Amino acid sequence: MCGIVGYLGTEQAYPILIKGLKRLEYRGYDSSGVALLNEGEIEISKCRGKVSDLEDHLAGKVPEGVVGIGHTRWATHGPPNDINAHPHASGDGTLALIHNGIIENYATIKEELINRGHVFKSDTDTEVLTHLIEDIRTKTGVDLFEAIRLALSEVHGAYAIVVIDKKNPDMMIAAKKSSPLVIGIGGNGEFYVGSDATPIVEYTKNVVYLEDEEVALMDRKSGLKIVTIQNKEKVPYIQELEIKLETLEKGGYDYFMLKEIYEQPRSIIDCFRGRMNLQKGEIRMSGIDDNEEKWINAKRVIIVACGTSWHAGLVAEYLFEDIARLSVEVEYASEFRYRNPIINKDDIVVAISQSGETADTLAAIEMAKKQGAHIFGVCNVVGSTISRTTDSGAYTHAGPEIGVASTKAFTAQVTVLTLMALTVAQKRGTITDARLHRLIAELNSIPDKVTEVLKTNDQVEYISDIYKNATNALYLGRGSSFPVALEGALKLKEISYIHAEGYPAAEMKHGPIALIDEEMPVFVIATHGQSYEKVVSNIQEVKARKGKIIAIVTAGDTAVKGMADHVIEIPKTDETLVPLVSVIPFQLLSYHIAVMRGCNVDQPRNLAKSVTVE
Ligand code: M6R
Repeated sequence: MCGIVGYLGTEQAYPILIKGLKRLEYRGYDSSGVALLNEGEIEISKCRGKVSDLEDHLAGKVPEGVVGIGHTRWATHGPPNDINAHPHASGDGTLALIHNGIIENYATIKEELINRGHVFKSDTDTEVLTHLIEDIRTKTGVDLFEAIRLALSEVHGAYAIVVIDKKNPDMMIAAKKSSPLVIGIGGNGEFYVGSDATPIVEYTKNVVYLEDEEVALMDRKSGLKIVTIQNKEKVPYIQELEIKLETLEKGGYDYFMLKEIYEQPRSIIDCFRGRMNLQKGEIRMSGIDDNEEKWINAKRVIIVACGTSWHAGLVAEYLFEDIARLSVEVEYASEFRYRNPIINKDDIVVAISQSGETADTLAAIEMAKKQGAHIFGVCNVVGSTISRTTDSGAYTHAGPEIGVASTKAFTAQVTVLTLMALTVAQKRGTITDARLHRLIAELNSIPDKVTEVLKTNDQVEYISDIYKNATNALYLGRGSSFPVALEGALKLKEISYIHAEGYPAAEMKHGPIALIDEEMPVFVIATHGQSYEKVVSNIQEVKARKGKIIAIVTAGDTAVKGMADHVIEIPKTDETLVPLVSVIPFQLLSYHIAVMRGCNVDQPRNLAKSVTVE
């Protein structure tokens, strides 16, 4: 989704802005732009396409100035083109503004401004906000900071904005509501702004996460001042950033997605740290320990999430119900928030989100909070909005995930959710010591098993080559392998643009079986476990209709091998934990097919890494 970078300091701003925009590319965007303030003038340069297109456009005439803002836009109002790209200027040309989010009442404001003589160039809500600020400043004579505060008290919706002003070359102003914004504080009166910390981390570790409805004035002389929209001054809370620069680089891989797939043995171990004690056969999760009574007495867990995180939630449904004997509902956050659901005080709402910024998940949390439920967050991005909004939580510690297609975040989420289910089961007395010890030992072996599965990469690449031109694909699984089938299908469609569906294997005969012919690849999880024989029958049903079977099987399997067109072996794993291992070949498969089809693996079309609008 849109990205923001800003700089006020002593260095030339343009290289800092461009580097920052490149670091934000992973969020997905369709146009980009910069505005620099130099010798009392603001120069805005923007165009449709990639940041590299903007650089080409500016080759030989790089804008100068030590104050500037940059933006990557993901179109919401009006098509992706040069005019709708940010920054936007006010009508009198004094201001330049960048914006993430959506101003919901922009049409009414625009009409009023047009009646007062304002002329708009773009289709965007952002340009309307820029004119509104200008209008208030001119009409009332207040300073820019106050004009921004007053303008923001008139708008509804979500925003993270940064404004520069040619009348005030020593300052930059930022504000946010429901869209994240981080301010970095450098030496020598320097300030950085980012929609997340990635464009800032290279320069400073000292950051302030703006809260909703706060306006921040960054002034070269007087420093940082924060005031709420309601005009209450706040003391800036400076935190230290934990992310390391190296974790944002590709580290020798062609794509971030591949790097992130290969990072999984490490990221799963990172999830265990400080939580799992193999020797003692114990798991401790402070977010649960601190709210022990709530978990012991909970009647129900409601999981809210979107996309891949929702799939992790579906895996958790099996884990919590089986291990902790706790009833679970898994909801699409986008549906839940508008459904007037029944939420009881003894429900625990678990919000799962890699980015911690997904608008629908955030809104679902807010709603559940109002109804008195305890909210537990499972987030990857430290300091993200969701992680700060929830009552308690557990970070997944997977490190920055840059590829739009979620991979290591999924396995980290499932790992944390497994640890949670085991912790709750210990507290509720629903697990025997023997099973607990067995599962802890099994969980501990998962990173090695993932490493083993990663060795199938060449074989998966070979299979990918055979099916790269398919137009449809079906993914089947039973039990907790069903969410893995959904996840496999999502991975394939989102990065290689092949239509794919995930189904519980037994549901196939209630409809999708009509699609099966010799052109249809059917990816099946057929690992050993209680539904193995049933899945074997489903495979036979596909074969009888000449479908192509690519099966993920337990090492040493013979029955499926005899029927399938291809088998990919994974190490023998306790059924409860199979999703952590069986998802890996699907991730590799979608990666290879996307590369072979010439797709942009890390930034697939129309997609954003964090979906901060509903
Ligand atoms: O940051 P979140 O986990 O809240 O994001 C949810 C989805 O937008 C995300 O998982 C999306 O489905 C990914 N592109 C899947 O690979």
